[in-house]
Amino acid sequence: MVTMDKIVSLCKRRGFVFQGSEIYGGLGGTWDYGPVGSLLKKNLKDWWWDDMVSKRDDIVGVDAAIIMNPRVWEASGHVEGFADTLVECKICHIRLRVDKELEIKQHEQMHVNAEEGKVAWTDPKKFNILMKAQVGVLESDKKDIYLRGEITPGVHVNFKNITDSTRVRIPFGVAQIGKAFRNEITPGNFIFRSREFEQMEVQFYVRPDIGESMKWFEYWKKNRMDWFEKLGFKREKLRFRDHRDDERAFYAKAATDIEYEAPWGWDEMMGIHHRSDWDLTRHQEFSGKDLSYRDPETGETFIPWDIETSSGVDRPLMFLLIDSYFEDDKRVVLKLHPRLAPYKVAVFPLIANKPDLVKKADTIYHHLKLEVGLSTSWDARGNIGKRYYAQDEIGTPWCVTVDYKTLEDDTVTVRSRDTAKQERISLSKLDSYFTAKLN
Ligand code: GAP
Repeated sequence: MVTMDKIVSLCKRRGFVFQGSEIYGGLGGTWDYGPVGSLLKKNLKDWWWDDMVSKRDDIVGVDAAIIMNPRVWEASGHVEGFADTLVECKICHIRLRVDKELEIKQHEQMHVNAEEGKVAWTDPKKFNILMKAQVGVLESDKKDIYLRGEITPGVHVNFKNITDSTRVRIPFGVAQIGKAFRNEITPGNFIFRSREFEQMEVQFYVRPDIGESMKWFEYWKKNRMDWFEKLGFKREKLRFRDHRDDERAFYAKAATDIEYEAPWGWDEMMGIHHRSDWDLTRHQEFSGKDLSYRDPETGETFIPWDIETSSGVDRPLMFLLIDSYFEDDKRVVLKLHPRLAPYKVAVFPLIANKPDLVKKADTIYHHLKLEVGLSTSWDARGNIGKRYYAQDEIGTPWCVTVDYKTLEDDTVTVRSRDTAKQERISLSKLDSYFTAKLN
């Protein structure tokens, strides 16, 4: 059975994710992606961008600054309202989010198990989770700013720039991928809740019409669920969860999360939010700049409504690791979709200290990597079984082994990660073999 301990240990052992600033004792809620983790993350983001921007005519991309004029965060409501409501345990003084009922129950149980009695909690209090920073050269001139708590405002504040500089027409979307920062009170569950994380979002602007906007809301719900299935997620591990009335912002006409069944229970992977005209109206009010849209055909002028799809990068990545984790008594395998796998192919000489085998394998490795353009790994350490085992653990779909027969007849052994079956392929057919599999 997959557990978080197994995932965390695999991530460290094979170079997916390390604790942030580990050699200094770490920094709570920060994580560093290692050599294979950064490849997996890039593949996930590239696939998202490809499907959201490159393959569509109605979505354009931006890459806005992380630090923004502090007025932005007043307009967006974050300075006033980006807060978690916390209660403090009167025994050990840990603060927990009042809405995290499971964490609260587990904490109470922990004190009961330790025979410390029943926990009493303080009254709930709000704590703002925006992270502060400073800009300015002289100490006396330094100005307080915020690291963005979400990537969203970078799109809204550029609404006019985008409509003026491109040919977009409503309905259209603006996509962005980037880092966000939150002073999370209880970061946890590995990279599920961190203080620095990445988001990928589309703000999709539509006519201010309830029927039309709900049609798009439903469209994006289905589109995002289908996308996760396309990545290889097991459908039974995914579900929609509509926000309750008391968790939905007052301006939100609808909000739904896509949840994944994590080892600790169902939890949020991403959200689809009907944000109405809240963001553009507020930025118009606070900036004093007109952010309305003029329909070029009808001449109507209005503030569009926004249907947002907001996903983290780190959460889907961690859920992909969990979902693709497979083990039996012989091996651990990450059955990642080949498009997500850090390496598509690994090339080995059967025996590492035989120069003629190494030379031939090296030629094939460089050919696949440089001429065919496949992300290719090389391994000539230890015995062949161990090399297969290591590639299975990082999800490499195929391993190519060069042996003495290769030197005679220009054929290699190709081993499949998922079945562990091997087949003999002629070198002249190797490129088309992989390109066919990958397409
Ligand atoms: N613009 C809307 C927005 O930011 P959110 O529900 O606060 O909405 C969207 O965040 C997504 O960002 C979440 O579904 C999750 O995938 C990711 N996310 C949020 N906080 C996170 C954290 N502390 N660590 C990792 N990912 C986080």
